[in-house]
Amino acid sequence: MTDVTDGVLHTLFQSEQGGHEQVVLCQDRASGLKAVIAIHSTALGPALGGTRFYPYATEEAAVADALNLARGMSYKNAMAGLDHGGGKAVIIGDPEKIKSEELLLAYGRFVASLGGRYVTACDVGTYVADMDVVARENRWTTGRSPENGGAGDSSVLTAFGVFQGMRASAQHLWGAPTLRGRTVGVAGVGKVGHILVEHLLEDGAQVVITDVREDSVRRITDKHPEITAVADTETLIRLPELDVYAPCALGGALNDGTVPVVTAKVVCGAANNQLAHPGVEKDLADRGILYAPDYVVNAGGVIQVADELHGFDFDRCKAKAAKIYDTTLAIFARAKTDGIPPAAAADRIAEQRIAEARGAL
Ligand code: NAI
Repeated sequence: MTDVTDGVLHTLFQSEQGGHEQVVLCQDRASGLKAVIAIHSTALGPALGGTRFYPYATEEAAVADALNLARGMSYKNAMAGLDHGGGKAVIIGDPEKIKSEELLLAYGRFVASLGGRYVTACDVGTYVADMDVVARENRWTTGRSPENGGAGDSSVLTAFGVFQGMRASAQHLWGAPTLRGRTVGVAGVGKVGHILVEHLLEDGAQVVITDVREDSVRRITDKHPEITAVADTETLIRLPELDVYAPCALGGALNDGTVPVVTAKVVCGAANNQLAHPGVEKDLADRGILYAPDYVVNAGGVIQVADELHGFDFDRCKAKAAKIYDTTLAIFARAKTDGIPPAAAADRIAEQRIAEARGAL
């Protein structure tokens, strides 16, 4: 038995982060497919989570990522009120080099082999067109194009959900569910960030943006000359007038370097895994910064792909995504009652819902 296997078995069966129901290692030599499908929980329903296609440095790193991401999806799906457990798949390799129709079809057959215990979707390195291919081999692929019965781009509802989380944060902190008259800094104005900016302007907020891509910035400032753009996120988070900081680029935005200097009273954005390490949620709370948990407010996308299984209906999804407002308020209330940061309160509520479904409570 190799060290890799030892590491996986330890994570699965012994570590506190473990407890996954099933991990499937997939190989198809003809197409070069090597993949890991991790099912954390099916207590609430079939495990749902995307497929990440990434050139992991080691196979152990790929398995660890799949386990971690699958667990995260259990919490996200539970808090989104979905009847889905958590799962995630990773395909090992550089998508630019090895992605092929043959490989995606082979992967689709592995998803099929789970008979519906795992439902897949897009993630980093996989796109709507890829899901159209994967879906040819099974009934459990979402994130497909509208021409193939899918819902297409999920950014619209993700941005809408983040905006609901921000309105709830404003209600909790300032007593009114609006960003009118507040200054909101959006870091990353890509697919989600630029739609969030539109919601904010419509609501009467002052918006400041930043992005490493000049074309992304210009797309917004050309349309809305009243918007200020700053050079980088470092500058944005230090602006004295900032009321809300919305990280909408990469993970790890909240870390030991940024938390001490953030001027905003609220952090609420789309980016996944904003807290760089455990303990950052407490540092935010100690500074009096209200943090709306990322996986709660950015659930619009997963709400959308889950809906595809029932025949996509935009209005039904929007109604579900609107509930992110109530969920976020409930988390802040629980945090206050239990005397814990909102991120910990969200975890507790999610764990409770999963345990109830399992009949453990
Ligand atoms: P995207 O790739 O379209 O946009 C990200 C933007 O951030 C890009 O314009 C990029 O240039 C910019 N960026 C990258 N590094 C930056 C930096 N250091 N400083 C400032 N800007 C930077 O991605 P998308 O779809 O808008 O997603 C944004 C975040 O939201 C990601 O973390 C993603 O995982 C998360 N998310 C997205 C969902 C969706 O439906 N698209 C669903 C749930 C989460």
